[in-house]
Amino acid sequence: MSERELASARSFWKRRELRAGRRSRYVEVKEVSLETVTADAIENGLVDEIVAMLGTGKEADVYLGLWNEAPLVLKVYRLHRTPHKKKAVMGYAVDRMGAIAAREFTILQKAYRAGVPVPTPARRVDNMFTMRFLGGEAKAPLLKDVELDRPEEVAKHAIDLVERLLEAFIVHGDLSQYNLLYWNDRLFVIDFPQAVDFSSNVDRHIRLEEAKPLLLRDLENLGSYFAKYGVQLSAEGEYHRLLTKIEC
Ligand SMILES: Nc1ncnc2c1ncn2[C@@H]1O[C@H](COP(=O)(O)OP(=O)(O)O)[C@@H](O)[C@H]1O
Ligand SMILES: [Mg+2]
Repeated sequence: MSERELASARSFWKRRELRAGRRSRYVEVKEVSLETVTADAIENGLVDEIVAMLGTGKEADVYLGLWNEAPLVLKVYRLHRTPHKKKAVMGYAVDRMGAIAAREFTILQKAYRAGVPVPTPARRVDNMFTMRFLGGEAKAPLLKDVELDRPEEVAKHAIDLVERLLEAFIVHGDLSQYNLLYWNDRLFVIDFPQAVDFSSNVDRHIRLEEAKPLLLRDLENLGSYFAKYGVQLSAEGEYHRLLTKIEC
């Protein structure tokens, strides 16, 4: 059996185990190793290989993969987490993490189609999706890790980015120097699991109300980041200006 076939077989059994627990919200799973993630991603044709880990967050791990020799970012929502109360490793069922990944991927696609600078979305399968890798030899730095030469311009660009997202009926909800990449003198926004999408006519009003405090917080985060450069950015002022634009 080749390495690839072996990986695929392992992945098949893991999935069977997970799907067996579909009716409950949680399923007990073994620690998901890099090997399993790799097998899963390869089996589903998302990448041919995983070459590095780019980040690990509360709910997802982010990897650098290769697909047809081209670099690609793979984001995998973890199927397990250790709850505080119990010592046991419990996992969220694949459907639940799949739904979270699907939601983030859809928002990424909407933002991309609306011309917001985001990494180009590629494909999603279950709890994982791929997108363009921003970077060269190394990954693009986060805004928090760069020293800006022209902070005023970048601040304008950041506000413009929030405005373009709003025009696409999206509020990011976790916008800060930690979720903005700075690449080729441009900002790109990533990481949308907290985003509110109010594009549907049916419940737009309710969703927009839900999004408003998040919008203000996003702007306040930008405000405090740019204040360190002495750039004045009035979060309140921008908030009202932007809302007037979309509410009329
Ligand atoms: N498309 C991308 N290109 C380059 N680096 C990326 C890309 N997407 C994510 N990263 C890197 O991976 C890290 C984690 O990604 P993110 O989506 O913010 O997940 P989380 O914050 O949940 O860990 C980021 O801080 C960034 O350094
Ligand atoms: Mg992040």
